[in-house]
Amino acid sequence: MSSLEDAIKAVYDTNFRRHGKLSYTVPSPDTYPFQWFWDSCFHAITLSYLDIERAKNELRLLVTGQFANGMIPHIMYWQVPPHNAFPEIHWGKRRTSSITQPPMLAAAVWRIYEATGDTEFIQEMLPHIDAFHRYLFRNRDPHHIDLIATVNPDESGEDNSPRFDRVLGLSDPRHQFVDNFKARLKLVDDLRAARFVLKNKVDLRHWVYDVPFNAILAESLRITSLLAHHAGNQMIAMWSEARATKVRAAMHDIFRRRHIYQSVYGTRLRHIPTRTWAMFMPLYAGVASDLEAEYVVENFLLDKREFALPYSVPTVSLAEPSFDPSGDWRGDWWVGTNWRGPVWMSTNWFIIQGLLRYGYIAEAKKIYHSSLELIKHSGFREYYDPLTGQGHGATNFTWAGLILDMEELLKLASARDQN
Ligand code: GLC
Repeated sequence: MSSLEDAIKAVYDTNFRRHGKLSYTVPSPDTYPFQWFWDSCFHAITLSYLDIERAKNELRLLVTGQFANGMIPHIMYWQVPPHNAFPEIHWGKRRTSSITQPPMLAAAVWRIYEATGDTEFIQEMLPHIDAFHRYLFRNRDPHHIDLIATVNPDESGEDNSPRFDRVLGLSDPRHQFVDNFKARLKLVDDLRAARFVLKNKVDLRHWVYDVPFNAILAESLRITSLLAHHAGNQMIAMWSEARATKVRAAMHDIFRRRHIYQSVYGTRLRHIPTRTWAMFMPLYAGVASDLEAEYVVENFLLDKREFALPYSVPTVSLAEPSFDPSGDWRGDWWVGTNWRGPVWMSTNWFIIQGLLRYGYIAEAKKIYHSSLELIKHSGFREYYDPLTGQGHGATNFTWAGLILDMEELLKLASARDQN
C-alpha cells in the first residue's frame, strides 16, 4: 500500500461509523457528521480499492433510507453526535432530509462489480437504483422533456453554486453566504408546506434542469443497463438503455447553446449562462460531439482567463463576477461549503472521466497531478484555492479518496492508448 493509500485509509477509519450490522463514513467528523447520498457513493468507489465489504455495507445502509416512492434522501441522520455543529434544518421527515442528490449509486455499484465480479450484489442493489430512476422520471419531469429537474440547489450537490443565483433571486454575484443559505432554506420550507407534492404546489420557476445532474443521470442509466445485463434482468436493461438515449438526446436539444451546454430553468426553459465546471459534464455523459468537446477544452479548460489556473480545475471560471477562490468563512453564520470557485476532488474526478472519454489523456493527467499536489500539500480538505492551492472548508474530508480511482482510470486509458 502506498503512503497516500495509507493516509486515505486513516481518514476513512477516523470517519467510520457503525449502524446496526451495517456502516457508513461521515464526510467530515466536525462539519458533516451524518450519511450523505452522493458522498456515500464516492466513499464506496474509494473503498472498492481499500475494503470491499465496507464499500458494500455503506451502500446497503444508504438504500435502507430510500423512500417508498423511490426517492433517496440526501442526508440520513442515523446518529446525532453530542457536539453537533451542523445546522438544524426542518426537512419535515423523521431521520432524513426531504430532497435528493445526483444519481451516483449505479456508478458506485459498477466499481464494486469491477473489483469483485459479484452479480449477487448487483441483484441486491438493482431494484433500488431502478426505483430511484423511476422516481425521477415520475416526479421531476413535469413537462415530459426527458430531463430531470432539481427543486433545490442542494440537490445538485453544489449547494451555493452561482448557477443557481438567478432562481434564488440573488442578483449580487458577491452576496453573503447567509443570504444564499436562507434562500435555500425557504425552498425547504415551501416543499414541506406543500407536503412534498411537487407537481402541483411547488413553484415551477425554481426548478432547474441542471447539466451535471442530467449528465450523471444519463451515465447512471447506461451503467444500470450494463449492470442489469450482467444480472440477467433484461427488463431493467432495456428500460434503462432507452431512457439513457432519451436523456442524451434531450441534453443535446435543450441544453446546447452555441457549442456549450447550459442548464435551463423554469417553465420556459431559460438558459443559465454562468460559466462553471458544468460545461465539461457533457463529456462525462458522452453527449458532446467531438467538435463541441474540443470547443470547451480549447476555449475554457485550457484558457488562463477561464479555467486554466495554477491549480486545476476551479468550479467557476475566473472570468465570472461570482468567482471566489478561497471560500473563506465569512461572518458568524455557519458556512460549510463553497462552490463559487474552489477546486473540489469530485468535480476533478468527473472532468477526468469526460476528458478520457474523448481522448484528452494529457489534459486528464494534468488534472490528476494537480489533485495529487493539492492533497499532498494541503491535506484532506473540503476544497482548495485554485490560485494558491490552500485548503479550505471541512477538515479530514473524505473525497480526496477519489484520487485512487483517478489513478486507475488514467492507467487504463494510457494502456489502451499504447495498444
Ligand atoms: C456539502 C456539499 C455536498 C455534500 C455535503 C456533505 O453540502 O455541497 O455536495 O454532499 O456537503 O459532504
